[in-house]
Amino acid sequence: MTPDDKKKQVALAALDYVEVGTIIGVGTGSTANHFIDALASIKHKIDGTVASSEATAKRLKSHGIPVFDLNTVDEISVYIDGADEANHHLHLTKGGGGALTREKIVAAVSKKFVCIADDSKLVEILGAFPLPVEVIPMARSHVGRKIVELGGQPVYRDGFVTDNGNIILDIYHLQIAEPVKLETQLNQITGVVTNGLFAIKPADILLLGSDNGVKVVD
Ligand code: 5RP
Repeated sequence: MTPDDKKKQVALAALDYVEVGTIIGVGTGSTANHFIDALASIKHKIDGTVASSEATAKRLKSHGIPVFDLNTVDEISVYIDGADEANHHLHLTKGGGGALTREKIVAAVSKKFVCIADDSKLVEILGAFPLPVEVIPMARSHVGRKIVELGGQPVYRDGFVTDNGNIILDIYHLQIAEPVKLETQLNQITGVVTNGLFAIKPADILLLGSDNGVKVVD
């Protein structure tokens, strides 16, 4: 199976976690896109969605799936999204697509976070995939220097502007032995909006597409 076949497989499996008659949160990226396409087949069973990016909102609407502003919604039953890396504690790195801030907000509101990925995303130690940090533009150099003090190598994602009008610094060469600690340290740098570690609030369930079917890690 190709990685994309595995993403499709796991996206279909995630339909089992959609709760009938509720509003669900929907992530961003190629795996989430497969999920959106699959969700279209059962759209009559849900009340609607909250999207984690403009791109996701557009794709959901193209299927005729209602998309609500988060501020008009009391409860999200489940959030379904991909990841760039996941460890066995279900700590994730996310934001390869630059949507980390809205993803973290929707995940925070949701009662359950189901992460969907192909099995290449499961790692022993997070950090081989560069860790994105969303930054207020005027704080770019300041945040970059603080990241160097923490042992990382920040690289400006050239030409990329987030849905919130900010920039992204991708941190290379990290071996994230203590994900909760690093997530907290990065959050404390003035000018950081969000970082792509999802460890303080990890996923609740990880579904992995593989040659031998969908594996469940929880
Ligand atoms: C986007 C994300 C994605 O979930 C992550 O980059 C994984 O993407 P893909 O499903 O395309 O492999 O965090 O900001």
